[in-house]
Amino acid sequence: MGKIKKLDQHTTDLIAAGEVIERAASVVKELVENSIDAKATRINIKLIEAGLSEITVTDNGEGMDEKDAKLAVKPHSTSKIKNEKDLFRIQTLGFRGEALPSIVSVSNFKLKTSQDGVRGSAYAMKAGTLVSESVAACPRGTEITVKNLFFNTPARLQNLQPTSVELSYTLDYLTKIAMAHPEIAFKAINNERVVLQTFGSGRLLEVISNIYKTETAKNLIDIYENNGYFILHGFISKLHVTRSSRNNITVIVNERVVKNTRLVSAIVEGYKERLMFGRYPIAVLNIGVDPSLVDVNIHPAKLEVRFSNEDELLDMVRNSVDNALSRSNLVVDLDESMEQTGVWDSETKQEEVVHEESKFVSLSEQSFPTIQPVETIIKPEPPVPTPAPVLKESFEQQQYTLIEGDVSTRPTEPKFALPKLAYIGQLQGTYLLASDAENFYLVDQHAAAERVNYETYISELQKNEETTYQLLVPLAVNFSLAEAALVVAKIPDFIRRGLLIEEFGSGSFLVREVPIWIPKGREKEFIEEIITQAINDKKTERFQLLDSLAKSLACKKAVKANDYLNNDEVAALLSDLGKCKNPYTCPHGRPVIVKFSYYEIEKWFKRVV
Ligand SMILES: Nc1ncnc2c1ncn2[C@@H]1O[C@H](COP(=O)(O)OP(=O)(O)OP(=O)(O)O)[C@@H](O)[C@H]1O
Ligand SMILES: [Mg+2]
Repeated sequence: MGKIKKLDQHTTDLIAAGEVIERAASVVKELVENSIDAKATRINIKLIEAGLSEITVTDNGEGMDEKDAKLAVKPHSTSKIKNEKDLFRIQTLGFRGEALPSIVSVSNFKLKTSQDGVRGSAYAMKAGTLVSESVAACPRGTEITVKNLFFNTPARLQNLQPTSVELSYTLDYLTKIAMAHPEIAFKAINNERVVLQTFGSGRLLEVISNIYKTETAKNLIDIYENNGYFILHGFISKLHVTRSSRNNITVIVNERVVKNTRLVSAIVEGYKERLMFGRYPIAVLNIGVDPSLVDVNIHPAKLEVRFSNEDELLDMVRNSVDNALSRSNLVVDLDESMEQTGVWDSETKQEEVVHEESKFVSLSEQSFPTIQPVETIIKPEPPVPTPAPVLKESFEQQQYTLIEGDVSTRPTEPKFALPKLAYIGQLQGTYLLASDAENFYLVDQHAAAERVNYETYISELQKNEETTYQLLVPLAVNFSLAEAALVVAKIPDFIRRGLLIEEFGSGSFLVREVPIWIPKGREKEFIEEIITQAINDKKTERFQLLDSLAKSLACKKAVKANDYLNNDEVAALLSDLGKCKNPYTCPHGRPVIVKFSYYEIEKWFKRVV
């Protein structure tokens, strides 16, 4: 008895419609989700050229009878909902009856399915037209093959990315859906190479271990929270297991992988100040909620969801992450550090120590008085009279002036050299107070340090020939499988830039040589940033790429607000700032220095009118 029905026009109109198949990964996603909805316990995904040539998804699910097999590729035909009412209680991953018709219309498509594992039906279509059909013996379940994706839609074909990028999209999805369904055994093969395998044991930690390696799985903290509306469960990483992007935070809602930046941010916010700047955890968070309290019908790709009381959920996520971390012993002992980096632990240990030392200010200096004596006079080259200030409109009503040079982030010759500054002291561990004959100045120390670092890095990065140094012990850096696919494709680029890197398997890479400008002892941090930028940055123009890398490195290395600086450090910072081509804005365009003229100050005190 057939299960698939065509939806009525009214229900169809209520479904968020749009382009559902944009790339190979969308085909894999839709086919795999159909297999999950068909209660498969084993799903195999076979790709050729990352799916651009061929995708085959085979499951051992409930299969379809002959009539349904034909109906499955008809628009708005689904077995998952019946009418408008069901749209507000979606219990399956699919519900629109749109995926298969969209796929068949842009590919060569073959389907083979059986409900009893004895008799099955099979057919082939080309761009939506039936080309052959047969009745054949086949195992229980469904197998769908999609070849020559977008062969008849040149615009979409052109939009496809290189295979490494397409593979990365697919692996990103597959690793996440595998974590959402630990009860299903997934096996993905690309060009005959196994790229992902899980075993369907039902244990999330085991799946995480398959995907991120055992060392990572051992350093996770479990989360469980139930407030009657939402059930949260999953794992978050301890503080020393971090990555330089948010890509390793997986959010799952009722077993559906979703994209929700607010939830991802809530997880990160739950870590409060415990994480180092620019570092993000690995996390897998399952959210269970009554289907009537969550709307999945808001985006054609079914990746976005809307909750009835999202703010409450966000608070709950933040608090449970915070509580889980508070109740855990987060002290990293030697063993954990060894597990993280395997044989390279001594390097990491050393790194941590050097890292602490290389901070701008040591902890003991935090007791420094906020205002420090005038001692340092900075002499920028060449000394020129204070420039006529440029008044910014938004600041016009206020009685101070931004000092402006060229506000573009591309380093250029400044319009004005930095004035001669006599250092007065530090305010709130954040601003440097300074003066000259006519004005009083506030310098944002973080913005100043960022500008100095940015100009150093951009000039180093722009040099064509990289001088390198060899690491005594190779450094291991780890990425998710999706990221690793992109890293592999960029290895020749990295080598050209002086980063000697080689694949080590399961998302790990070994770095043997690094560019000379990378600070000693902070290699891992910088390498991870360089690689993350290269694989995540969609910018292809060389300057833009280097520019964004330099900005991000500059920000990482810069002294932060609330760091107390001693006089020597201030002198060095102001002197370096004086040498910058554009000392007036940080690389992100924020002002570095603000000026108050004595005349204005005298007006405040009504000494002049
Ligand atoms: N692997 C499968 N095993 C069993 N039935 C399947 C399989 N794939 C598709 N079907 C049947 O075909 C129907 C149409 O699939 P299709 O993916 O086009 O739509 P859907 O899953 O209902 O909704 P959506 O468009 O949101 O994915 C499904 O409702 C289901 O009944
Ligand atoms: Mg579907």
